[in-house]
Amino acid sequence: MHPLDTDRLQLRAWSDEDIGFVFDMYSRWEVQRFIGLVPRVMADRGEAEAVIARWRSLDDPVCGVWAVQRRADGHLLGTLLLKPIPASSDRTPLPPSGDIEIGWHFHPDVWGHGYATEAASRALKHAFDSGLPEVVAVTKEANTASQAVAGRIGMTHQGKTTRYYNATCELFVATRPAS
Ligand SMILES: CC(C)(COP(=O)(O)OP(=O)(O)OC[C@H]1O[C@@H](n2cnc3c(N)ncnc32)[C@H](O)[C@@H]1OP(=O)(O)O)[C@@H](O)C(=O)NCCC(=O)NCCS
Repeated sequence: MHPLDTDRLQLRAWSDEDIGFVFDMYSRWEVQRFIGLVPRVMADRGEAEAVIARWRSLDDPVCGVWAVQRRADGHLLGTLLLKPIPASSDRTPLPPSGDIEIGWHFHPDVWGHGYATEAASRALKHAFDSGLPEVVAVTKEANTASQAVAGRIGMTHQGKTTRYYNATCELFVATRPAS
């Protein structure tokens, strides 16, 4: 996983020291309510430990699931994801669609500071610098906060799609700028 920096933020690999933060963030309904086909909050620290192990095992030079922390004091803020997005399908598990998805989950205590936008913008630049031609983001219709992040990082809203996750989502697309 490629560490990334911005003015205020560091995007780095997760570690077991982050289990408490991950559990605190993903056990909150306001974080989970728009995530997944059937949203549910994380039930115990074991789930946080397992998810960190899964994120750490993703060994890819472009994609990753980063821990986002504030440079000034090392305070953990949230998660930034760049990963293959599953297609809609009758098959289980859902097969890859061939597209790459960007996503963001931040702790409610730090919403409203532009951290998600700053982290996502850096990850998107990393994706394009690494040669990806296109990155997509999908949100639930009611998730206006997430749609605003996609808009702020320059993604184009393309309406609804049923292409991914066996769900109807709002689709946002960013295309690699001409160099
Ligand atoms: C989606 C989510 C990350 C958005 O968080 P956010 O804090 O609203 O987004 P940003 O970090 O871009 O911050 C933007 C806000 O900070 C303000 N802000 C303050 N300083 C700023 C700065 N330096 N730069 C940009 N914005 C700044 C903006 O005005 C905006 O405020 P507003 O919401 O009142 O319009 C957050 O709601 C979340 O984690 N939700 C739960 C998980 C989720 O649903 N994820 C998406 C799944 S598709």
